[in-house]
Amino acid sequence: CGIVGYIGNKDSKGILLNGLEKLEYRGYDSAGIATLNEDGVKLTKVKGRIATLRESVDESIQATMGIGHTRWATHGVPSVMNAHPHQATSGRFTLVHNGVIENYQDLKKENLSDVAFVSETDTEVIVQLIEKLYNKYQDTAEAFRQAMGLLKGSYAIAMIDAEDHDTLYVSKNKSPLLVGLGEGFNVVASDAMATLKETDQYLEIYDQEIVLVNRSFVEVQTLNGTVVDRKPYTAKIDASDIEKGTYAHYMLKEIDEQPFVMRNIIKEYQDENNQMKLNADIRKAMQAADRIYIIAAGTSYHAGLVGKELLEKLANIPVEVHVASEFSYNMPLLSEKPLFIFLSQSGETADSRAVLVKIKEMGHPALTITNVPGSTLSREADFTLHLYAGPEIAVASTKAYTAQIAVLAILAVDTAKEKGLELAFDLIQELAIVANAIEVLTDQKEVMEELARDYLAIARNAFFIGRSADYNVCVEGALKLKEVSYIQAEGFAGGELKHGTIALIEEGTPIIALATQENVNYAIRSNVQEVVSRGANAMVISMKGLEQDTDAFVLPHVHEVLTPLVSVIPLQLLAYYAALQLDRDVDKPRNLAKSVTVE
Ligand code: G6P
Repeated sequence: CGIVGYIGNKDSKGILLNGLEKLEYRGYDSAGIATLNEDGVKLTKVKGRIATLRESVDESIQATMGIGHTRWATHGVPSVMNAHPHQATSGRFTLVHNGVIENYQDLKKENLSDVAFVSETDTEVIVQLIEKLYNKYQDTAEAFRQAMGLLKGSYAIAMIDAEDHDTLYVSKNKSPLLVGLGEGFNVVASDAMATLKETDQYLEIYDQEIVLVNRSFVEVQTLNGTVVDRKPYTAKIDASDIEKGTYAHYMLKEIDEQPFVMRNIIKEYQDENNQMKLNADIRKAMQAADRIYIIAAGTSYHAGLVGKELLEKLANIPVEVHVASEFSYNMPLLSEKPLFIFLSQSGETADSRAVLVKIKEMGHPALTITNVPGSTLSREADFTLHLYAGPEIAVASTKAYTAQIAVLAILAVDTAKEKGLELAFDLIQELAIVANAIEVLTDQKEVMEELARDYLAIARNAFFIGRSADYNVCVEGALKLKEVSYIQAEGFAGGELKHGTIALIEEGTPIIALATQENVNYAIRSNVQEVVSRGANAMVISMKGLEQDTDAFVLPHVHEVLTPLVSVIPLQLLAYYAALQLDRDVDKPRNLAKSVTVE
C-alpha cells in the first residue's frame, strides 16, 4: 500500500490524488482520501483505482490538509468498507496505514472489546486504540505515542485529528515513510516519487519514530518523546523519468530503455582508464566470503539465478540463491564466512528485509543490489551497489532484471580479477555489445507482436523450455507472461519436461524454447522434437551461430555468459504483446503490487 499526506496553504485534494497516482505501483485495489477544513473531515473511499477516486472526490470542497491511501489488500477483501482512511467511532481521528499489525487480534481483545468495528482491517484497530487512549490521556500526541508503543508489526501511519487543524501525526516501523519539506507546507509519502512535484527535500524517518508535521515545521521524536535532530537530503529522481512520454505503457518504455541502462551501468562502473570501479570494502567482503547467499523475490530471484552462474563460473565462488520468504523460516546450514547479497529493485520488499534483519542479528555481512539507493534494504545493509536503471514503474519488472544481471556480472568479473583469475574476455566491451544487441531486438517489435498473436494470445497455457543458462531465463519469461497476460505459463528445464509435465502437452500447446548455449543446443532441440511429436506448437528462439532454418527468431550473437541479457528481451516483448492482444491492464495487472511491503 502507499500513503500520502499534505498540510500547507494550498488545496490538498489534487496533491493527494497526484501523489496516490504515483504510488499505485504499491497496490491499487481500493483507495481513499480524507481532508480537513472548518466544516470537519471529508472522507472519500472507492473500490478500484485512483482514477475512480478522482471521479468520486467532491470538487467543491477546499481543504489545506489531508491524507490519502492506495491499497493492496491483506486483511479484508478490496471494498469501500476496508479501504483507507479508517476512522474511530467518534469520527474525530482518521488514519491511513501501510503494513501489517501482527498483534491486532490481541489488541482488539484486550483493549477494544466494547468497540463496534466496521471493517475487517487491522488498521481500524490502530485508530480505535488511539481514540481509546485519547479518552484516557485527553492529549492526541500522547495517545498517538502510547498507541504506537503497543503495535507489533509493520506500519507507516499518517493521522488527522478533527480538532487540530495544524498537525499530521505520523509514525513508522519497518514500512517506508518520508516527510518532505516545503515553504509553508510539508508532505508525507511512502516514496519521494509521490510528492516530487511539491519538493525534493526529504527527511528520512527511522523505525519507531513519531513525527508531528505542521505547516511550517516538522518535529521528529523517539517513542519516549526525545526530540531528534535530522537533516533533510535532496531526492535525486528526475521527475521526467516517471512520466510515460509518448509510450502507451510504462512496460514498453522500460523494455526499450534497456540498451540505455546497459550503457549507463558501464559508465557508472568504469573509471577513467576504462577499468572496473568498485568500492574497496565490497571487494574485501567478496574476497573474505567462502560462500555467497543471494536473497530475493519474484523477478529479482530470477536475476539471482543468473547471477549464481556468473559468480560461480567467472569468480569461482559457491553461490546459493534463495527465495526470501522461504529463507526466513527455513534457514539452510550456513557456511563459515557467508556474504549475503540482497537483490531488490525497490529495496523495500518485506520478505527480503526479514532475512536481512535476521542475518544482521547473526552478525553476517550484507550487500544490497538495488535500483533505489536510499531504500530500506540499502540503508540497513553494509554495502550497496546501485542499478542505475532509472525508476521502474510498470509492475512487471523488465529493465531492473537486466540491470541486476549486468551489475552481478561486474561483481563477478571484479571478484575474479581480485582473485587473480585469468578471464578471456573484456566485460565492459561485451556489455557494450549486449547493449547494441538489445537495441536490435527492441527494433523488431512487429515480429514479436506477430509471434505473440500466433502462439500466445489464443492459448490457455504455455511452456518455456531451455537448458543451463536458458532455463534460468525461461522461468523469468514464464513469470512475465503470467503476470501481464494471465495465461498460465511455466518455465521448465528442457530435459525435465518428460519426467511428468509433458502430460500437459496437447494439440496446439505453445512451447517457447531458448537455444543460446552451444553445449546444450543438440539436447534442447531433441526436447523440442519430443513435444512437437505430441502436438505442441513450438517456437525456437536461438542465438546467431546456433540457429536452424525452422527457428522462429534468431538473436544477435553475444558472449555466452551474457546471453540471458538478450534472450529475455523477446520474452518480455511476447508477454507485453500477448497482454495487449488480450486487452489486459499491462502496467497494473490484477492482484499485484510492484513493491510488496508486507511479509
Ligand atoms: C513484487 C513485484 C515483482 C518483484 C518482486 C520483488 O512481487 O510484483 O515484480 O519482482 O516484488 O521486488 P523487488 O523490488 O524486491 O525486486
